[in-house]
Amino acid sequence: MTKKTDVTLNINGQTHNVSVEPRRTLADAIREDCGQTGTHIGCEHGVCGACTVLIEGVPARSCLMFAVQADGKAIRTVEGLAEGGKLHPLQQAFMDCHGLQCGFCTPGFLMLATGVLEREPDISDEDLVDVLSSNLCRCTGYQNIIKAVRMAAEQMRSS
Ligand code: FES
Ligand code: FES
Repeated sequence: MTKKTDVTLNINGQTHNVSVEPRRTLADAIREDCGQTGTHIGCEHGVCGACTVLIEGVPARSCLMFAVQADGKAIRTVEGLAEGGKLHPLQQAFMDCHGLQCGFCTPGFLMLATGVLEREPDISDEDLVDVLSSNLCRCTGYQNIIKAVRMAAEQMRSS
């Protein structure tokens, strides 16, 4: 049996001390060792983006990272977006614009868009669409996702 390593995962400001095999993915550790199942796992190959989380504010595919690589880093997941019972502007916009159907891809899109808009609030529309094209959705046809992120971007800029 492979020797386990102790790591500290700081998820949405909460510390989780876990013991993981070196090859354990961050996605599995977040979901199974820390009980934060809002981060979804689709392809497990870095293609779909369902597992996107923020690491030190930067979107990352947690199925492509080992948990040990995130030791001590600030991780944000979809569970941390709403504050004080109020949805994040992106979450509200996804609801208002019907940017989700089954919702499987939604946590990944929300974290991708959060990371991008926080770092680059004035991102051009062309670049925004380009960024969003990195994640897959099998339901919505993308138009309402793009509409939702555009709407939230405007709100985030004016708040
Ligand atoms: S599950 Fe990570 S990119 Fe698809
Ligand atoms: S809403 Fe179903 S995969 Fe995107």
